[in-house]
Amino acid sequence: MINFVAANIIVSYISIENYIKTIPKNIKGEIMLNEKIQKALNHQLNLELSSSYEYLAMSAFFESLNFSGFASWMRIQSQEENGHAAKIYDYILLSNSKVELAQINAPSLVYKTPKGVFEATYKHEQKVTASIHNLAGLAIDTKDYATGNFLQWFVNEQVEEEANALKILERIKMIEDSKGGVLYLDKELGKRAKSV
Ligand code: FEO
Repeated sequence: MINFVAANIIVSYISIENYIKTIPKNIKGEIMLNEKIQKALNHQLNLELSSSYEYLAMSAFFESLNFSGFASWMRIQSQEENGHAAKIYDYILLSNSKVELAQINAPSLVYKTPKGVFEATYKHEQKVTASIHNLAGLAIDTKDYATGNFLQWFVNEQVEEEANALKILERIKMIEDSKGGVLYLDKELGKRAKSV
């Protein structure tokens, strides 16, 4: 009985090994991204995952204040950032290159008010935009047109990301001293639909 099981395991192992050999690689079976681009994409992957972590902490902060609409908006934002990370992860693998997952730091900010949170969000999105632009510039410099094309989605997405954060920040500034206004905005933000 034991021999039969062992034999089956060996057969399965051989089958898996043979199967792996049949997985198509790119034509030459070589890494398709140059080292600089691969490193920069992995850096961006980490930044997107860090963003997700930061926004999840913001969501928890809003939950602690019973602002369930703000909390829901931030939770969805956190999930979107995971989606951004997944796009980059898939692209690196599709390019037959190496995903290198680095440490994700604990959320660094101390949140005190909705206004403070959205100031931090806007600033953070500006940082992400700068990072995407650097990456897109590197793709141009290295004549990596495929990566440049892939990054175009992120360039456009960042316009929206910054605009959304700024719009909410401006609305918070308008109603800052009105409890009713903040509660109304909380209700409005709670309507955000999951988009990933
Ligand atoms: Fe993925 Fe909000 O940048």
